[in-house]
Amino acid sequence: MGYWTHGTVLIWKVSVTSLPCKYLKNECRLVQTGFVFGINCSFVSLSSMFGGMHGGMFMCSLSRLNKRIRHMLFQNLMKQEMSFFEENKPGSLTSRLISDTDKMGRSVAMNVNVLLRSLVKTCGMLFFMLRLSWQLTLLTCIEMPLLAFIQNSYNNISQVTVLCFKAEHQEQQRYEQTLNRKLQILRRIYSAIHLLIRRVNHIHSGSLFAFTKLCPSLYSQHLVYIYGDMLNTVGSAVKVFQLLDRKPQMREAGDLAPEKVEGRLTFEKVTFSYHSRPNEKALKSVTLELSPGKLTALVGPTGGGKTSCVCLLQRFYEPQEGEVLLDEEPLHHYQHQYLHKKVAMVSQDPVLFSGSVRYNIEYGLKDCTLERVKEAARKANSMFEKWKYFIIKVPEGALEWHDAVHTPLPQMNFPPESPRLQEVHQNRNLPVLP
Ligand SMILES: Nc1ncnc2c1ncn2[C@@H]1O[C@H](COP(=O)(O)OP(=O)(O)OP(=O)(O)O)[C@@H](O)[C@H]1O
Ligand SMILES: [Mg+2]
Repeated sequence: MGYWTHGTVLIWKVSVTSLPCKYLKNECRLVQTGFVFGINCSFVSLSSMFGGMHGGMFMCSLSRLNKRIRHMLFQNLMKQEMSFFEENKPGSLTSRLISDTDKMGRSVAMNVNVLLRSLVKTCGMLFFMLRLSWQLTLLTCIEMPLLAFIQNSYNNISQVTVLCFKAEHQEQQRYEQTLNRKLQILRRIYSAIHLLIRRVNHIHSGSLFAFTKLCPSLYSQHLVYIYGDMLNTVGSAVKVFQLLDRKPQMREAGDLAPEKVEGRLTFEKVTFSYHSRPNEKALKSVTLELSPGKLTALVGPTGGGKTSCVCLLQRFYEPQEGEVLLDEEPLHHYQHQYLHKKVAMVSQDPVLFSGSVRYNIEYGLKDCTLERVKEAARKANSMFEKWKYFIIKVPEGALEWHDAVHTPLPQMNFPPESPRLQEVHQNRNLPVLP
């Protein structure tokens, strides 16, 4: 509302001052008023139109900016190593991805928008005020910094110190003095303005009225508000930029992708400890060789390092010392996609995505036909007897295996620790097996 009032007064002022003298001297006051009213209306309509356009364009660019930041952030998150995801839980990453990017984009775009608008308006208002009276403008402008200075002159010391020295009464007096000083300065400024108005007799009542209307339109409060809001968003922006700039702490994958891989796996004096427990060695100078075409089992006590070996084979982590070789080549020489196509893994704690069994089996594969999914399930069927039961009997009524493959997993109603979960997981790897 205030925005329109000030806008209208300014337009009125512009209209009146820019009217040629012949119109002002015109005998017909009605025509003059109508003319001014017309100009005023067209300014208001134009202003509304441009305001609407500005709002629409602003929202559009804001959404694009948000989408771009989120896309870049997600891309960078996908490149990070496993230990990063162990240290940063999915909840906090989702919060960075959704709320912090939104807050940051909204605040930066909104504040830049308001800042520019307020700056342009303040400059415009100052121009008109200076034209009316530079003395009054100067007095008006020094009011703000002076009051801010007085306000800051009372800086409270810690409450503990005040209590220790029993200085509550003293502090009360000090605060009251500051308030009085502020009042005095305000009074002096207003009396100076009053004196000035009396002495500078070229300011007539119309200009004075316009001046008093223009004064509150100085957008200094907006500028102060923007500053505060920017400070509030700095925290979110810092977190987002830190994630955007984070470089993965693993060697970049090479581009080795030979047509045939023999499958000879070698651990050469591998020493490895997890990032979260740097002083505890999960593997200590381990040397072993896994020959192709042979079924090899790693047997050992709980916490002995079997899963850690498999994780190193998948290149989820990198050993601090030694090297893991596939066909005599270090794993990091191989292409990322190639390596994961050749090395499949069935986890002890499988995680399945919500979706159908088919979706879970063909996850990560491009253009996987239903035939391939069925083939993978059939292979697993011969490997796991229970799978038959799973495919045929669960869920109730879905006697056709085709139906079961398409049934969303949540409808299967099996508990999270069920071996069936692992079976679906097993199937997931089968279509990619060489
Ligand atoms: N993500 C992890 N972060 C930190 N330490 C881990 C992590 N995973 C395993 N460890 C530790 O590394 C050591 C080796 O664990 P690992 O899981 O490889 O043993 P395991 O032989 O597979 O045991 P289990 O037979 O119980 O599966 C253990 O001391 C374990 O506590
Ligand atoms: Mg294990």
